[in-house]
Amino acid sequence: MKFFLDTAEVKEIREAASWGIVDGVTTNPSLIAKSGRPYAEVLREICELIDGPVSAEVVATEAAAMLEEGLKLAKLHKNIVVKCPVTIDGLKATSALSRRGIRVNVTLIFNPLQGLAAAKCGAAFLSPFVGRLDDIGHDGFEIIAQLVRIISNYSLPSQVLVASIRSPGHLLRAAESGAHVATIPFAILKQSLHHPLTEIGLEKFLADWRATHQKIE
Ligand code: E4P
Repeated sequence: MKFFLDTAEVKEIREAASWGIVDGVTTNPSLIAKSGRPYAEVLREICELIDGPVSAEVVATEAAAMLEEGLKLAKLHKNIVVKCPVTIDGLKATSALSRRGIRVNVTLIFNPLQGLAAAKCGAAFLSPFVGRLDDIGHDGFEIIAQLVRIISNYSLPSQVLVASIRSPGHLLRAAESGAHVATIPFAILKQSLHHPLTEIGLEKFLADWRATHQKIE
């Protein structure tokens, strides 16, 4: 499963990239707003740090305007993947962009048929939001299992990207479900790598080693 970082904070991306486990980045208008930085500038910087897909979302709501914005975003860098919402206009824009060879991440997917429609329009990535479904009392992972099955049934080229991850448990379920990608907030990624027994074990190994007064030559 690929790990994308779900952030527009360049510091976080630089740090996680240095660990060697980041395959891409997703942003959305809320994350860009939170960064407080100009859109194009922050996207270019992220693309220079990460040699993988970097999702940049359109903010227009009408297909022709989405297409225009998508073309502009795609021109910023070869790593840009244009993000379109799964509205009818978003699907039209997805088809038009895909036909031009531009990769599209279809976002705000909350049921499997929306995902199937996006795949039929040529989407490279399908983004179902598990956390937001959990928030309203659904099991967000039901749609992941359904979409993974649908994509496999018809050998569709779209990748299922688990979005709206809120906990290490979500990340684990994403991996168990056979999803192709998980996009993860930096804090959750860090939390996932932490185990108290790792720290306790390391302290003990180092204390025992110090007692030998040896050095690795
Ligand atoms: C990423 O592509 C999505 O926009 C993001 O994961 C949404 O996360 P949220 O539901 O925590 O805002």
